[in-house]
Amino acid sequence: MSALRVAIVGCGGITLQNHLPGFALCPDTCVVALCDADPAALERARQQTGVVVTSTRFEEIVTRDDVDAVVIATPNFTHAPVAHAAIAAGKHVLCEKPIAMNAAEARGMAEAADRASVRHMTAFTYRFVPAMRYLSHLVREGVLGDIRHYRSCRLQDWGTRNLGWRQVRKLAATGELGDMLSHRIDFAHLLVGPVQRLVANLKNLTPVRDGHANDTDDWVAILADFRNGATGVLESSKLASGRNESWRSLDTVEVNGSQASAVFITGKWNELQLGRAGGPGLEIVPVPREFWTWPGAPRDPGVGDPLVTFRYDQAFEFVDAIRTQRPCVPGFHEGARVLLVMDAAVRSAETRQWVELPAEG
Ligand SMILES: NC(=O)c1ccc[n+]([C@@H]2O[C@H](COP(=O)([O-])OP(=O)(O)OC[C@H]3O[C@@H](n4cnc5c(N)ncnc54)[C@H](O)[C@@H]3O)[C@@H](O)[C@H]2O)c1
Repeated sequence: MSALRVAIVGCGGITLQNHLPGFALCPDTCVVALCDADPAALERARQQTGVVVTSTRFEEIVTRDDVDAVVIATPNFTHAPVAHAAIAAGKHVLCEKPIAMNAAEARGMAEAADRASVRHMTAFTYRFVPAMRYLSHLVREGVLGDIRHYRSCRLQDWGTRNLGWRQVRKLAATGELGDMLSHRIDFAHLLVGPVQRLVANLKNLTPVRDGHANDTDDWVAILADFRNGATGVLESSKLASGRNESWRSLDTVEVNGSQASAVFITGKWNELQLGRAGGPGLEIVPVPREFWTWPGAPRDPGVGDPLVTFRYDQAFEFVDAIRTQRPCVPGFHEGARVLLVMDAAVRSAETRQWVELPAEG
């Protein structure tokens, strides 16, 4: 088997924390080229990896003959142009979320990738959390019965620091909605199904962050009707003072079905809380070992911080789908579906109205 040759475009936070260690664990896979528009970030990544093929221009990297697959880990406004260039050059593409600035752009990427018969994947990283995988397994198996309510809440304390491109609407499209809630919209799709209509609010409570203008949302909430009749309540904030950040902050999903309820909390990667209808209440249920890693992934779940290392399975899923010539899970279509909901949430907040989603959403 010849090695799969990966190029990474964007060598910032998520590449260093997630993509590079993830691909390092994949058998017969090699990161062969790096791109970053910022020469200092590019040099840092070059030194860290020893990868010698580098460029500040993505066009020079994604078109190389010695590259099979491209990871896009740049600010949101660049995802579509980089993806189209890579797809046109016949490369498989793993793109960070949100995969585009809006649903139409995302759909264009998905259709182009399908037409070119390349593998495409959206980096909805939280799908790889063991407890979330076990929760979706329980829902699929009918343990919870008919799903009636989906509830997610993410509360972080990012204070008023400057968030760079993340707080500029023309570079990011949205703030907390795309940053954090996009993951939870994807999880809702996986567990419950498509959204039929929603009403939403977005709030910018820090128009200036550390002296720099912020025109994106710090807080977002969505009230949703799913097509199967279930209800959804989703909230996410960067301004929950004292709640800490990342996996140390509150990040919870609760699903209430006709037979049982289940609660997932991010910090508890290998347990869920489960309560049966009419029973005494929620009890802690350990996540079975078979869910500790993605099927086939070479990662040893006993190595490293499990609140971080689950993320590495994403690279394995991308590589495995390319090798076995099957669709990646989740693909660009899942990414586009989330953007349909995000677009509807923005429209709802602007118009102060409920918004109906198209049937494919
Ligand atoms: N899946 C997840 O859990 C997760 C977590 C964090 C970030 N993200 C996503 O990853 C993407 C990057 O986020 P980040 O936190 O790494 O940002 P970052 O700012 O740390 O890094 C982005 C890098 O892209 C570079 N860049 C900007 N424009 C470029 C261009 N045209 N060509 C090449 N390089 C360019 C920047 O110089 C920077 O080094 C975003 O879409 C974000 O939403 C996803």
